[in-house]
Amino acid sequence: MKKATFASSGITVRRMDFDFAGVPRYWVDNTPFLTHMLNALSATFPVGERFFVESVRHYRDRISDPQLKKEVSAFIGQEAMHAKEHDSYNQYARAHGIDLERIEKEIAGRIAFLQKNATPEHQLAVTCALEHFTAIMAEGFLDNPEMFEKMDPAMVKLWLWHAVEENEHKGVAFDVYQEQVGDYWLRVRVMALTTVMFTVNQARFQARLLREDGELKPAAWLKGMNRLWGRRGWFRQMIPAYFEYYRPDFHPWQSDTRALLDHWKRELQLDEQAVHHKGKAAA
Ligand SMILES: [Fe+2]
Ligand SMILES: [Fe+2]
Repeated sequence: MKKATFASSGITVRRMDFDFAGVPRYWVDNTPFLTHMLNALSATFPVGERFFVESVRHYRDRISDPQLKKEVSAFIGQEAMHAKEHDSYNQYARAHGIDLERIEKEIAGRIAFLQKNATPEHQLAVTCALEHFTAIMAEGFLDNPEMFEKMDPAMVKLWLWHAVEENEHKGVAFDVYQEQVGDYWLRVRVMALTTVMFTVNQARFQARLLREDGELKPAAWLKGMNRLWGRRGWFRQMIPAYFEYYRPDFHPWQSDTRALLDHWKRELQLDEQAVHHKGKAAA
């Protein structure tokens, strides 16, 4: 398979250690709807990101491009750190009596099923699909500071750091897929299926968390949905970027986010403040 050649940003593994001790229960704009949307997402990260790592690691020794091999190691380092920090995020939820463990268990069961029954190619395609979701959500987040103006500052730091790194490594699983599998129809079929699973599950988990809090109210749900999908809605703005994935010549770095990343790395002093770098793969 021919390797796509796009400029990327370099992938730095940063060791982080966030503290969520003082985070209030509803840390997004004091709103249960948005807080539980992000709680539901975070609940899926530790198990989900470990799955991404496994699905890419499967191919590591066969990768012929030495640069891509280095990027795979950096990708694994970043995702492992995300899993660790979202584990610690999930402690915030535990401290408030929010049951994210049930969601984690359900996702772990689904992933175990996939790992047992799907081919490595299929598993890698699932990772590529979800990496596209994280890349476009991260880009949307980094590009719209008004999204996090009313969030708890400790949480904002975590999500911004995660968003930066998701963008830094957004091409890695995809490049491995192109080099090792390269099947367009598998890639888009799996994306269509993953989209349904992902959106239905996330909405279900969010609704469950809201119900457990006695906050599943039609008016609040409609208002929240409008904020996500209405005119200028957070997710609505991401729809064109989502559909790019279905182009046969798609590559994640066709959306050149290097300037955006440089801005946030400077703003957050990510490369000065991180405890240390475990490795760096400049692309
Ligand atoms: Fe991640
Ligand atoms: Fe990722």
